[in-house]
Amino acid sequence: MGNKVGFGIIGCGVIADFHANALFGLPDDAVLIGVADARYESAVRFAAAKGVRAFATVDEMLACKEIDVVTICTPSGFHADVAVKAANAGKHIICEKPMAITTEQLERMTEACERNGVLLSSIAQARFTDGVQMAKQAVENGSLGRLVCADVYMKFNRTQEYYNSSAWRGTKAVDGGGALMNQGIHGVDLLLYLAGDVKSVYAVAKTLARDIEVEDTLSAVLEFKSGATGVIQATTSVYPGYPRRLDLNGTNGSITIEEGSLVKWDIQNDARQDIVLQSTQYSSASVPTAISVDNHRKQFADVIRALGTGTKPLIDIYEGRRPVDLILAIYKSAEEHRVIDL
Ligand SMILES: NC(=O)c1ccc[n+]([C@@H]2O[C@H](COP(=O)([O-])OP(=O)(O)OC[C@H]3O[C@@H](n4cnc5c(N)ncnc54)[C@H](O)[C@@H]3O)[C@@H](O)[C@H]2O)c1
Repeated sequence: MGNKVGFGIIGCGVIADFHANALFGLPDDAVLIGVADARYESAVRFAAAKGVRAFATVDEMLACKEIDVVTICTPSGFHADVAVKAANAGKHIICEKPMAITTEQLERMTEACERNGVLLSSIAQARFTDGVQMAKQAVENGSLGRLVCADVYMKFNRTQEYYNSSAWRGTKAVDGGGALMNQGIHGVDLLLYLAGDVKSVYAVAKTLARDIEVEDTLSAVLEFKSGATGVIQATTSVYPGYPRRLDLNGTNGSITIEEGSLVKWDIQNDARQDIVLQSTQYSSASVPTAISVDNHRKQFADVIRALGTGTKPLIDIYEGRRPVDLILAIYKSAEEHRVIDL
């Protein structure tokens, strides 16, 4: 690796633009070498817009020695095949969420990354927001007392046109699920990050208002290993759609985060003077692209730091699979109408 880490982007659709812009914001540490797409013309168009190279194929990109890290921006069900190839080519990987959509895929990716000694960081950009980091500190230093409830509500709006905009959206085989696996995974990841592992789950999933193969609405009741209880609600079918809300309630205090903003901080005898409640700035509640590039940039910077120091990134491959494992258990509960123990 040279002074700057060389990047390549695989898959030149909606989220790839955020990856390119995140990298352009790290000019001293990172350089975007080029892009590839299963459709060469998409790579050419994207590369021309960004002033980088279009590789003819993913394999050609993986053979490029200037590239240290590839970011995977393909539809979710294709992440695993691309990641295994990249790992076998010795490339480090930043993979969009969900890291994969089946247990078999997760295991294949993990095996390939371990065998080749490459790092994989799964995108969970919401963890890098100020509100989430402050909540994490409060949980870790015991400010909330005993955690009693940890809940996340994701009442979003995605139109039928959104689902129709690409053949893979809303399909079991490639999206892997609906409101929870695609849009809701960010909230599931935050819940696990802040409230810890889940012991058991019971869920109801429905397709109420969109013409898709997967759920557009889901409610789950959780028991955490800590004994706390929790609720996950995810839908893409309500008007107008609201920002993701995450509540942490303990015997000594409560915190609410909307998207990445701290909107409630009610802690007894709290000595902190620096708490400023925020308004919700970015919300993809009704507009899929209304996300901030800053948090992707922070995650990319964290990966570059980890590569430079030989340490772990905040979200490594094992962290990346935690929300997917929980979501798969939630789907199993909904399908089999029973409590699933994890
Ligand atoms: N982190 C976030 O907030 C966020 C937001 C949006 C999307 N995403 C994730 O990003 C991924 C892509 O979503 P999108 O909305 O950009 O999709 P998209 O359909 O807009 O773009 C996908 C691109 O990948 C290309 N492609 C398909 N298969 C490929 C393959 N095998 N090799 C190379 N290229 C291939 C397609 O031609 C297309 O250009 C999904 O996993 C999605 O969940 C994450």
